Amino acid sequence: MNGLLLTVTTWIHLLSAVVWIGGIFFILYVALPVARKTLYQPGKIMGPLSKRFVPPANISIFLIIASGIIMSINSHEDLTSLSGPRAQSLFVKILLVVIMASIHFYRGLILTPGIARLTSKGSNPEQVQKLQTLSLNLVKVNFILGMTVLLLTGVLYVYKA
Ligand code: HEM
Repeated sequence: MNGLLLTVTTWIHLLSAVVWIGGIFFILYVALPVARKTLYQPGKIMGPLSKRFVPPANISIFLIIASGIIMSINSHEDLTSLSGPRAQSLFVKILLVVIMASIHFYRGLILTPGIARLTSKGSNPEQVQKLQTLSLNLVKVNFILGMTVLLLTGVLYVYKA
């Protein structure tokens, strides 16, 4: 593959990784603790903040998968035979990213609108609380999966020919 194309593809891959995983890190370990410590209703800032993160996260997910496919084709790894640590770690990496993206879009397209609908009805605060806890735990799961994806990328790098 053309060197410039691969350089730009890898750059887009790394940039998308920084935005997606870095954004999750910022929300969980910077914004949320500060909001909880300083605000009576942390949801007042966390709601708009999470909503603002959705478009760049969506774009990053699309770009990281597209650039990842290009880089996978370029790496000539045989993902069918899964022979060797590189093919195996790339396969598991792709699987984890599919799970991460599914969690992201489930939260964005189903869970968050569902919580907003229930909240506007004001009829079932316990259920709203339960769904908000589920939503936050899913973000934490995605952070752990993101860390695992980066670890697998380390294996990919170490076993590079
Ligand atoms: C959360 C999602 C992902 C993150 C954080 C991530 C992160 C990274 C990083 C940091 C690199 C190192 C770049 C380098 O070696 O120069 C990389 C390389 C790579 N990524 Fe990803 N990636 C993600 C998703 C994907 C997906 C979905 C695919 C495949 C469809 C993929 C395929 C690859 C390949 C083939 C390489 C080059 C590995 C090599 O030859 O050493 N990545 N990724």
